[in-house]
Amino acid sequence: MASTLAMGHPWWERGVVYQIYPRSFQDSNGDGVGDLAGIERRLEHVGSLGVDAIWLSPIFPSPMADFGYDVADYCGIEPLFGSLDDFDRLLAAVHARGLKLLLDYVPNHSSDRHPWFIESRSSRDNLKRDWYIWRDPVIGPDGERLPPNNWISDFGGSAWEWDEATGQYYLHAFLAQQPDLNWRNPELRRAMLDVLRFWLDRGVDGFRIDVLWHIVKAEGLPDNPLNPLWTPRDNERDRVFQVNSTDQPEAHAITREFRQLADSYGDRVLIGEIFLPNERLVAWYGTPDAPEVHLPFNFALIENPWDAPTLARLILDYEAALPPWGWPNWVIGNHDSPRIAARIGEAQARVAAMLLLTLRGTPTLYQGDELGIAEVPIPPDAVQDPRELRQPGLGLGRDPARTPMPWRGDEAHAGFSTAPPWLPLNPDWRTRNVAGQERDPGSMLALYRALLALRRERPALAVGAFGLIEASEHKLVYTRTSGDERLLVALNLGQAPLPYAPESTRTGPVLLSTLGGTPEPGILRPDEGLILELEPASA
Ligand code: GLC
Repeated sequence: MASTLAMGHPWWERGVVYQIYPRSFQDSNGDGVGDLAGIERRLEHVGSLGVDAIWLSPIFPSPMADFGYDVADYCGIEPLFGSLDDFDRLLAAVHARGLKLLLDYVPNHSSDRHPWFIESRSSRDNLKRDWYIWRDPVIGPDGERLPPNNWISDFGGSAWEWDEATGQYYLHAFLAQQPDLNWRNPELRRAMLDVLRFWLDRGVDGFRIDVLWHIVKAEGLPDNPLNPLWTPRDNERDRVFQVNSTDQPEAHAITREFRQLADSYGDRVLIGEIFLPNERLVAWYGTPDAPEVHLPFNFALIENPWDAPTLARLILDYEAALPPWGWPNWVIGNHDSPRIAARIGEAQARVAAMLLLTLRGTPTLYQGDELGIAEVPIPPDAVQDPRELRQPGLGLGRDPARTPMPWRGDEAHAGFSTAPPWLPLNPDWRTRNVAGQERDPGSMLALYRALLALRRERPALAVGAFGLIEASEHKLVYTRTSGDERLLVALNLGQAPLPYAPESTRTGPVLLSTLGGTPEPGILRPDEGLILELEPASA
């Protein structure tokens, strides 16, 4: 029973978000690619996990150059995934379970096949020319044609693509097939706000907003400063600091418009994908009078090494950076990052699950992490990720985190599809799958369910205050408190047993161990995470 205290918080503060990557959740029509009807069929799994909301990566018509992050129609459904009717059915089924549904809004760029871009590139005086960012070439010292500035695409190479027909370059922060939209154009702005209205009117509960900090570029498009530390072994994107191509004040103003619109529909949420240092990240909350996104994604756990002193520092830095009105959030995996179990191993991935679900703030879980899927080898001829194909050898590949959900060990293709899936399954799918883990009380799935259930029961975990008690070489200990409820979380990030509480802390019963079995009194076993009750402060 959720307490009145937790109920005083909006759902997106006390709840948990689960990310579904639609191509890889469940195929229902035998083409090897997941779809909306498949997601509907597997809602039982999502419901039984105990999360509150689903975020779907893009499901809109797309040539799939960047697997849906190249949108050719913002108000339709990609036929591979189904139809608008399928979507409405899925939304109703999600709501019938008491869950929320968030879509992925991709405002920085469309597909080059979007009718807007086709018009825009048709001639220099087309009415939609200015909906994208077109510039004349710079003429070099030997009369050669050069791009308008030194900006680099996040996927490598110049961010400018030459268009022979109209004799200008267009800007693309990602692939050339993803031309950047011009948010300084009022008509484009209106059209993109209408997109939000279209989905809000259909009843979606909010949006995850793709690369939000990219949407406006500095006036005049000045060069980005060079990064003196860059070497050719690094990601090409990092050759420059993206100060002029991202994080502009005008983007905050537009985000305030998004928020006003969302708020006019009531209880909706906006989550911004933003990669910035804390002090700039938290600016995206806006102010109480002029709010921006509810949750600017916090990727600190993805971007930093897994050790106790680092974790303690990044948690405290983040907490300290938050404005009083900013609700925190945490992420350990998504479709762009290596799987947590691949990064730190399965034993520590269990500890990471406990950390994610006991920190103060809204957690976002990524499909498949609840099974502990780790490294999935992708044979060179099976690589799909366009970023990996453009910069091979840099190890930037996103495919290993995008492989299909293994549902059963006793069906072809793990029950994901009747056809060979678009990416290979995890090699251990016969033993690592949903059905198998449902039968095993010691499984990663059982741990996730137990953590989510405890979080639901205990307001201290969902919305309580955070207090760091101890961070030593291999140990992280903190409290979560709300009213009389005081819980202690103790995580052993190492391979040796450790005492879990400083002498003075009076601990009560263990509520959950990542290892199961019988915890040893006062001791954290190797790779163990514990949640314990604490005696009231005054007792
Ligand atoms: C975001 C998405 C990523 C995509 C990129 C360009 O970072 O998460 O998958 O490639 O934006 O849209």
